[in-house]
Amino acid sequence: MCGIYASFSLNAEKRVFEGLKRIEYRGYDSWGVATLVDGKLELKKEVGKLSGQKNIKFAESKLCLGHTRWATHGEVTKINAHPHLAKNKSFALVQNGVVENYQEHKSKLIDDGYNFISKTDTEIIVGLLEKEMEHNSEKNLSTSSFINVFNKLAGRNTVVVITTQGRIMAIRDGSPLVVGRNSKRELYFSSDVLSMSPDVDEYLVINSGQIAVFNSSDSCFEITDIKTGKRVGVEFIPLEHKLDLANITMDIGKDSYESYMFKEIHEQSNMLLNVIRDSKQKFAVAVEMIKNARQVFTLGCGSASYATGNTAYLLRKIGILALTVEAYEANSYLELLNNGSEKSVCIVFSQSGETADTNEVVELMKRKGVKIISVVNMPGSTLTQLSNLSFMLQVGPELAVASTKAFLGQALWGIIISDILSGSKFNDLEIKINEFEYKLKEWFANKKIQNNIKKIAKNLTKHEHVFVLGRGDLYYAGLESALKLKEISYIHAEGFSSGELKHGVIALISKGTPVLCLVAEDENKANMLSAISEVRARGGKTIVIAKENNELYSNWIQLPDTNDYIFLSSIIPSQLMTCYMAVEKGYDVDKPRNLAKSVTVK
Ligand code: F6R
Repeated sequence: MCGIYASFSLNAEKRVFEGLKRIEYRGYDSWGVATLVDGKLELKKEVGKLSGQKNIKFAESKLCLGHTRWATHGEVTKINAHPHLAKNKSFALVQNGVVENYQEHKSKLIDDGYNFISKTDTEIIVGLLEKEMEHNSEKNLSTSSFINVFNKLAGRNTVVVITTQGRIMAIRDGSPLVVGRNSKRELYFSSDVLSMSPDVDEYLVINSGQIAVFNSSDSCFEITDIKTGKRVGVEFIPLEHKLDLANITMDIGKDSYESYMFKEIHEQSNMLLNVIRDSKQKFAVAVEMIKNARQVFTLGCGSASYATGNTAYLLRKIGILALTVEAYEANSYLELLNNGSEKSVCIVFSQSGETADTNEVVELMKRKGVKIISVVNMPGSTLTQLSNLSFMLQVGPELAVASTKAFLGQALWGIIISDILSGSKFNDLEIKINEFEYKLKEWFANKKIQNNIKKIAKNLTKHEHVFVLGRGDLYYAGLESALKLKEISYIHAEGFSSGELKHGVIALISKGTPVLCLVAEDENKANMLSAISEVRARGGKTIVIAKENNELYSNWIQLPDTNDYIFLSSIIPSQLMTCYMAVEKGYDVDKPRNLAKSVTVK
């Protein structure tokens, strides 16, 4: 959460402003830029999204530091936006993370006479640095003062400062930070690799527990391990090389689509094969790890948790003891990890690879000896580094905040692994996925189906609540559909198993209540139809996503003409509906309120 972009380059102010737009998915309630002009630091901050901003005038500068904020401490105001300036104006600072002991530091600083102007935990770091400088009689912030203060902070924090002396200093703990450079010897710092692609040719990842320092006066760039105090080798990786490896298209434009989310939904008919392509050997290794495991855990947050939930469900269905761990409730699973945990495997899904709730449990499991298999979509992410075996989803950059194609890729990965474990041949799976993509393309191109979805979505905007029923193979598809509806169109959507209906939820069904039902042509169909009848008997309106129509359905959304991968196809109508509903209500589809793409704080 929160995005950092810094640059030492010609017209750094423009480079940083454009770079911030590319990482705005990380937080977009306010933004700010500090520029070094004629030896003095100047600040510009605004509340609101940066993408719509035009005619912002910055003085020309070679050294700039920018930030897009996702508020944790202190409301969304210009004062609370980063960067924060030292009182003597010798440095400007941005932070990603949370200073967990900020109250303790704040009261001490206030006792010492420090005058806080913002309500952020970030200003604590500024105050502590200024105190440290005073103590060391420093005019300019030194690396050792920076490290001393960093060591006093509890929690995970990535902090970057620029100084009037033309230095950039950055410490990473948790939230990611990458450095890039180009042939003009210009240097960039950013929260992600992709955002730097227009500006740099090569990059390196700063690891947690490292400090990177750049002196613009002599272009010296060094990285040091904070604990050992030892220099770390600086090895830049060509950007193209890494991106080729990840088979990631650099297409980060919207094309003719009105939103990234709409584009990414449509790309789902084009990228599923990437999940399996080039991974034959890795799947074979994963299969052996799972076969030999005493216990299999699956782990993820939000949408990723539904993909991992479904994966565990599929593994259980083929007789493998698999348990889904809720990352934020992981403590209750700890006792299960005490004996023989080195014989356990945890399958972790994360689009970003930077989700703090997920990575913290991964670290804990690793300490207990659990083997980690991760499926990530972002090259160079922390989760990849933490894993024993890591898959790259290769579905291409997902820039809309709500997950669509990454979720489908994760869910497909789970289906593939359980299919291989139950004896399917890799080549047959490739053919099957290829055919499914073809059917999906046909379905997207079918105007009648698409217009029907649009019409149903328009009607749904008149309602405040919708219930989503799934069961068996479509239980997690129902939960994910409900989450998509909530996130973008802000309708209260509640997903549950249709079996739960008569145990309580039915009390909420009355005349006209919309109930979205996901029906597969399988052994659960009869139970789903009973639930649908029960809803209709109470005047509820059933919108049913299914392959075939039935007189019990008030509205029918037709699925693609295939019996394969119904879990995947049955989610897509809700992805589309939520976009249509958001557009109808005038909401920002790509940047829904209060959310951020990469949840790097706990
Ligand atoms: C929902 C969504 C979130 C993420 C969750 C995990 O549309 O995007 O629920 O799935 O925050 O994020 P990653 O996959 O980056 O670990």
